[in-house]
Amino acid sequence: MIIYKAEDYKDMSRKAANILSAQVIMKPDCVLGLATGSTPIGTYEQLVEWYKKGDLDFAKVKTVNLDEYKGLERTNEQSYYHFMHQHLFHHVNIEEDNIHLPNGMEPDAKKECARYEQLIQSLGGVDLQLLGLGHNGHIGFNEPCEVFEKDTHCVDLAERTIEANKRFFDSIEEVPRQAYTMGIRTIMQAKKILIIVSGEDKADIVRDAFFGPVTPMVPASILQMHNDVTLIADKAALSKIPE
Ligand code: F6R
Repeated sequence: MIIYKAEDYKDMSRKAANILSAQVIMKPDCVLGLATGSTPIGTYEQLVEWYKKGDLDFAKVKTVNLDEYKGLERTNEQSYYHFMHQHLFHHVNIEEDNIHLPNGMEPDAKKECARYEQLIQSLGGVDLQLLGLGHNGHIGFNEPCEVFEKDTHCVDLAERTIEANKRFFDSIEEVPRQAYTMGIRTIMQAKKILIIVSGEDKADIVRDAFFGPVTPMVPASILQMHNDVTLIADKAALSKIPE
């Protein structure tokens, strides 16, 4: 694993955007796996800035997002579909047909998860997967549990995740209780992985995930087994890693 220590959130975002840009420049028709949440917002902002300067071209880029809430319309402002358009897709020249997220409005979980897995395969797999890190070690919506869930599946969100996400909704009751997410194998099959982390509140989980034992109780710990992972974290998030 390569670890880059960033000064702060802005520096982390710029470093991450550099790696994503390099991927797009080297393979203009690449498949990017993308994440939502607060962490990648600065990275997307930086990509948009470079696109506007004429340094990046998304015309052939394809994207697959990690996850989507189950039961939220795409038009809902809290859907990940909406988030991605708001922070990235609306501002760059990506083709709408090349944008993929799980369909949160498909009630048949088995059908939707199989469709999404097959779609990723049909695109030739993910070239570079961007990840954030949950406080409990989740990646995508793979929450701590007894075993690693392999494929795209429907999850019941952990109380802590619901609590963390309530800031985006008017009330905690409105936070969806389920989501579709890529599984651990789906994520691990990406050719390259870029995980970004910011803030002192993530220092304990950065230490546990990347320097502790590999266990499904800390889902991100599985990334220690991937042979091309880059962790970009700011000083605060790296403040508890062993020397
Ligand atoms: C988002 C996702 C989540 C987030 C994680 C960290 O698509 O899959 O795993 O990456 O919850 O969220 P933030 O960045 O808001 O701390």
